[in-house]
Amino acid sequence: MQQIPLFRVALNGYGRIGRCVLRALYERGADAGFEVVALNDLADLASLEYLTRFDSTHGRFPGEVRVEGDDLRINGDRLRVLREATPEAVDWAGLGIDLVLECSGAYHTRADGERFLAAGAPRVLFSQPMASEADIDATVVFGVNQRCLSGAERLVSNASCTTNCGVPLLKLLNEAVGLEYVSITTIHSAMNDQPVIDAYHHEDLRRTRSAFQSVIPVSTGLARGIERLLPELAGRIQAKAVRVPTVNVSALDITLQTARDTSAAEINRVLRDAAEQGPLKGLLAYTELPHASCDFNHDPHSAIVDGSQTRVSGPRLVNLLAWFDNEWGFANRMLDVADHYLRVAAQSTVPPAPVKD
Ligand SMILES: NC(=O)c1ccc[n+]([C@@H]2O[C@H](COP(=O)([O-])OP(=O)(O)OC[C@H]3O[C@@H](n4cnc5c(N)ncnc54)[C@H](OP(=O)(O)O)[C@@H]3O)[C@@H](O)[C@H]2O)c1
Repeated sequence: MQQIPLFRVALNGYGRIGRCVLRALYERGADAGFEVVALNDLADLASLEYLTRFDSTHGRFPGEVRVEGDDLRINGDRLRVLREATPEAVDWAGLGIDLVLECSGAYHTRADGERFLAAGAPRVLFSQPMASEADIDATVVFGVNQRCLSGAERLVSNASCTTNCGVPLLKLLNEAVGLEYVSITTIHSAMNDQPVIDAYHHEDLRRTRSAFQSVIPVSTGLARGIERLLPELAGRIQAKAVRVPTVNVSALDITLQTARDTSAAEINRVLRDAAEQGPLKGLLAYTELPHASCDFNHDPHSAIVDGSQTRVSGPRLVNLLAWFDNEWGFANRMLDVADHYLRVAAQSTVPPAPVKD
């Protein structure tokens, strides 16, 4: 018997992440605890329908998608489609929703989030880390700290795809062998904030360069993002990032100085056990097969440790490689966090934080 969704959700921003979130919800089918009843983006309805049906990275939508009047119909479900450029222009309360999944990437501060609340949105889950800890009620990496949610939060962040990949691994290894210092290089596929051919596109000058002609170093807030989740490592993490000319799937190259002597076999055993038997089953995976990045396209895990690449040079200097589908893995974590957040909020006796006028 099909489960009736308990909660109603709207998407704001229907680009790579917004579309993956909607599709992942439909691919989960009857298990989904909520339904998407509306989406708001700047594009016209015909383009939104087309980009839902056909996806160069994840393939055709596995269901029926069509336009009906001003709305989208997906497998018979009606989704209101809005084209508003500001949160205030949307009657969120009138949509009868429990949560906005903010996937435009256009909002970074608490003041931005409060614009949604003042316009009637009960809660917002952001698809990126906010500017500072003061800008958000909680930043959640599912599998690590979702239990911090009390239900009173109004503004929650799903962190970043790289944080979702790195934090579970660092937490496990810090508990198992102790970590003195951490250095990470993100090897990230291209994104829509880069042009196909050189063009003005971003204040970060390197992001004005053709995404498919170079390996491009870009700025990253990964180290500070990890510190928000693992404050015990604060001041001992650095990170840099390069964009590479692929369309999806990324990797973290992680170097660790451990607190005690260890071996590649021990590091791999800790990570493999957590993936196969531990609480991270379904979120973390482990492989020693000779993979290339495209093998992980449409993989829902937050991190897939490639044990064949683990190196220990000297007894305390470890190097690891972990893959992640930056779109699909992250979109699945948006669903996990949203589902947990909504259930906790529904059972909470803690009053929600007041909305500022
Ligand atoms: N892509 C990834 O792998 C990934 C992974 C994790 C997290 N994220 C984060 O998720 C966010 C979105 O990334 P993305 O890759 O999905 O970007 P994207 O493909 O550019 O999608 C953003 C969408 O939001 C629309 N939009 C822009 N301003 C809007 C507004 N004010 N109201 C409503 N819609 C608006 C954009 O329309 P226009 O195109 O017309 O501007 C576009 O359709 C970013 O913060 C990013 O850092 C991305």
